[in-house]
Amino acid sequence: MNVYDSARMAELLAPLGYEASDSPDNADLVLFNTCHIRENASEKLYSELGRIKPAKAEARNHGPMVVVAGCVAQAAGEEIFRRAPQVDIILGPQTYHRLPELVSASERTRMTTSRPSKTPGMIDIAFPDEPKFDALPAPKNEGPTAFLSIQEGCDKFCAFCVVPYTRGAEFSRPVASVLAEAKLLVAQGAKDIMLLGQNVNAYHGEAQTGQEWGLGRLIRALADDVEGLERIRYTTSHPRDMDEDLIAAHGEVPALMPFLHLPVQSGDDGVLKAMNRGHSRDDYRLLVEKLRKACPDLVLSSDFIAGHPGENDRAHENTLKLIADIGFAQAFSFKYSPRPGTPAAAHDDQIPEETKNKRLFEIQALLKDQQAAHYAACLGKSYPVLFERKGRYEGQLIGRTPHYFPVHVSAAESLMGQSAMVQIASVGTASLGGVLQHDPQSTSPTDPVHFDSPLATETLQERPSC
Ligand code: 5AD
Ligand code: SF4
Repeated sequence: MNVYDSARMAELLAPLGYEASDSPDNADLVLFNTCHIRENASEKLYSELGRIKPAKAEARNHGPMVVVAGCVAQAAGEEIFRRAPQVDIILGPQTYHRLPELVSASERTRMTTSRPSKTPGMIDIAFPDEPKFDALPAPKNEGPTAFLSIQEGCDKFCAFCVVPYTRGAEFSRPVASVLAEAKLLVAQGAKDIMLLGQNVNAYHGEAQTGQEWGLGRLIRALADDVEGLERIRYTTSHPRDMDEDLIAAHGEVPALMPFLHLPVQSGDDGVLKAMNRGHSRDDYRLLVEKLRKACPDLVLSSDFIAGHPGENDRAHENTLKLIADIGFAQAFSFKYSPRPGTPAAAHDDQIPEETKNKRLFEIQALLKDQQAAHYAACLGKSYPVLFERKGRYEGQLIGRTPHYFPVHVSAAESLMGQSAMVQIASVGTASLGGVLQHDPQSTSPTDPVHFDSPLATETLQERPSC
């Protein structure tokens, strides 16, 4: 989401004469788009600000203009001016469409003020009524993959998470504006669109009929109406918002790729309750079964938190067991990080750092093995690979299989942005290696990844391929 927002902010500043620079050293304006999800991410802002300090002479309105945007800006607000007086503008994630106004005002102040450091900085961290998306310029995208933000904010209030406080209440963009943006992206060459939202499957956008559409219906419309759109994915989802229509879409819409990021956070019912997730371990297992029934080829990704307050050894073992039972193709796992103002941060039963480290290590070791098993299962099979970028070596392109696995292939540069059938010939730790098969226009079906986990194997044997 921050990558998407950063691109939009660069587009907003283009009419003012700004263009992207390779290095902050020669920039007229330095914008930090920040993340507040964990303490590490948040603290990065201050160390990065420290690095541009010399150029800025510790005074506002001198040197490069400094803008702090994103969720740290939203959460810390004026505190950022106190800790870093060289910051000129603070801007929240819901108000970044106002960036040109603030930058112009700051430019004017610079031209007129003689005592720069005494001038107050500008701050806008409101949750405005006007929809931000209506005020954004049409996106410009390069290459075959694109992000499209369709939903923002979250009403789930998981006990550990700052997102509902920084991104605000759930908001879904209207269907027509999503379809129009998708068409524009495809006209610019995009073939693979990732639909974005903090809780994207809670999407409930208004259609032109006045009806509310869920994500499944939106995906069907994108697949039917946007000619040239080959691949659709979405991230990130909450298990409770996975409705029947969306599950069915995984089996019925060929453009919806067989990859789903579905965070579970923990495999223990007590911890899930303390997290206020609103689902149990078995709810998640059942959901995965339904999804695999709809699309037996589906591979899963997830998020895990190690050492949430109240998590004991048994709870941790339950998480390991859930991971072993389900089998994930990839996952993100984090040590619990207390976030100011969230209920979990005030919990008495915080877990010692070394226990969190040990548990995270065990979770990651298991997930790493599962990713390796998924990659190994691809060996010898053929997949349509969409080439996204050049590889490190001459004559090499990198693309992705429908399961989102990266593949290195020796291929002509003319195949960039195209799909071609590739047979997987080697398996690395972070990617696959493959050889081009036949004609780039070939549309052979995807070979399923048969991953050897009890739940996956059971489901794959029972059902036909989607
Ligand atoms: N500590 C650790 N991980 C967190 N996440 C969200 N909040 C926290 C926190 N306080 C993780 C969750 C979420 C992902 C985006 O970040 O796993 O799904
Ligand atoms: Fe945070 Fe996701 Fe929970 Fe929303 S659903 S509160 S974004 S973890």
